[in-house]
Amino acid sequence: MNRNLIDAAISNLYLFRSMMAPEDFYRQWVALLKQVEQCQTEKDLEDQVIVPLLQLLGYESANIAQQVPFGRHRVDFLVKAQQRGPHIHYLVIEAKAPSKSIAHNSWQLRQYLRDSGSLLGLLTNGNQFKLLYNDGNVIHTLWQFNRAELLEDYRLLGSLLWRHNCDRVMAIFHDSYRRVQQRFVQAIARLSHDPKVMTLLSIDDQHQLAVDNQRKKSMIITVFNNKGGVGKTTLTINLAAALSQLGKRVLLVDIDAQANLTTGLGIDPLEDIEKQGLKDITHLLTEPKTTAKSVTLSKRWGNVVLDIIPAHIRLSNMENQLIQLVDSDRILAKKLKNHDYDFVLIDPPPSFGKVNRISLMASAGILIPTQLSPYPIRALEYVLTQVEEVGQFRETPLPVVGIAVSMHDKAARVFNQSMVDEIHHQLSRIPGGDRVSLFSDKTWIPRLNVLSKSQDKGYPLCAADFDDDLNSQDRDSVEKATYAFESLAREFLSTVGFAVEA
Ligand SMILES: Nc1ncnc2c1ncn2[C@@H]1O[C@H](COP(=O)(O)OP(=O)(O)OP(=O)(O)O)[C@@H](O)[C@H]1O
Ligand SMILES: [Mg+2]
Repeated sequence: MNRNLIDAAISNLYLFRSMMAPEDFYRQWVALLKQVEQCQTEKDLEDQVIVPLLQLLGYESANIAQQVPFGRHRVDFLVKAQQRGPHIHYLVIEAKAPSKSIAHNSWQLRQYLRDSGSLLGLLTNGNQFKLLYNDGNVIHTLWQFNRAELLEDYRLLGSLLWRHNCDRVMAIFHDSYRRVQQRFVQAIARLSHDPKVMTLLSIDDQHQLAVDNQRKKSMIITVFNNKGGVGKTTLTINLAAALSQLGKRVLLVDIDAQANLTTGLGIDPLEDIEKQGLKDITHLLTEPKTTAKSVTLSKRWGNVVLDIIPAHIRLSNMENQLIQLVDSDRILAKKLKNHDYDFVLIDPPPSFGKVNRISLMASAGILIPTQLSPYPIRALEYVLTQVEEVGQFRETPLPVVGIAVSMHDKAARVFNQSMVDEIHHQLSRIPGGDRVSLFSDKTWIPRLNVLSKSQDKGYPLCAADFDDDLNSQDRDSVEKATYAFESLAREFLSTVGFAVEA
């Protein structure tokens, strides 16, 4: 339960108000306290004073348990709310015969308070009343009253022991406990999709989880532009790394025979895949039984973890074989169906061929990288037309998440503005172009040598910290580019409706 709600609900205990007229209540209260004088034993006090007193304060017999065993002890009275809930009780009462002093018996009550997890403890012999409070850790003495004082003023003790306050406080405990349990079982369900666990969730939670999983499954994005060399692969690697730094699980799929993404992550297709007898994207696409998991490699740089389905030049010879496969356009979609990532980013080749169709059919959206220069911008029209065409073969539309700028030259301010105008002009001419937006300028990736160096060296830019070869100028550049990629990752997340946890 929200802390403020608890504070608001519990910040005031109600002052005792009886259902009967105040003078009638007071008459009965006085009569009960007088009755103490007739009691000889502890049992007399319990039956003739304590039980009727609790009834006078609104309790029913279902609220009052007597002689309740706790460990080696028996608690005289345990007073609780009627609803089931956490193992916390409101009040425990320890009674003594009126002839006995209570001065040395509070250790026993303290023990009961701990054992029963009760909030309040009352120790009484009918003449003296001692009220204790258990904060879960330490037991505090709140007040002591004698019978004469209670005959004068019943309000404080009456309010604290009143059934109405007991119900309220326990309802709040119950509610927050239930919420913690709910969250806990939701967390277990997110960890495991076992149907056994699902049945522990409420119907609403089961539905919400299904929606979340669906959304999760659908976060496959192709980074697409048929103009070559615009920085797609560099942007894909570093966007993935920034998403990983923001706590997202990312899988990269290299579906380009050039295997730039694979080498860009420090994996040599010949040495690290072929010679090791490992499989790659070609096997995944052409062998019905090969699963995505079995061809996934994992790389880590500090807190950045990237999984990758690598490529190999042999993909270039597979186009014919792919065309002959039944339902070949949907092959990657099927293989990625039950993926367990927040995002899958696919890096296809620049030309528009079979593997591009396969990528787009598997995707829930497109991210278009472009440079601020005339040719790549002119290519936008072709890109969007292709996307539109593939969209017609799909059950769901294929939205463009946004246009990201790469290799940005900050100095060419006026020229850049004219290119931005040109992008908007292009979009205004293309059907559906009004739904496509350009990511803001703080996400624009600068043209920097360190970026091309890092790709050659096989690591995402955020791993440059580990590279001793970089000089201080390089390190400044790394900082600039890292900022741009992190900004891009954040805008990307908010566009696709994902919360940023970091
Ligand atoms: N922001 C940048 N600053 C400097 N160099 C960059 C930047 N982005 C990419 N490059 C360099 O530009 C070249 C092309 O980049 P990249 O391979 O990422 O483009 P691409 O669009 O994936 O190419 P292709 O169309 O061949 O797949 C590479 O040499 C890369 O190192
Ligand atoms: Mg590339």
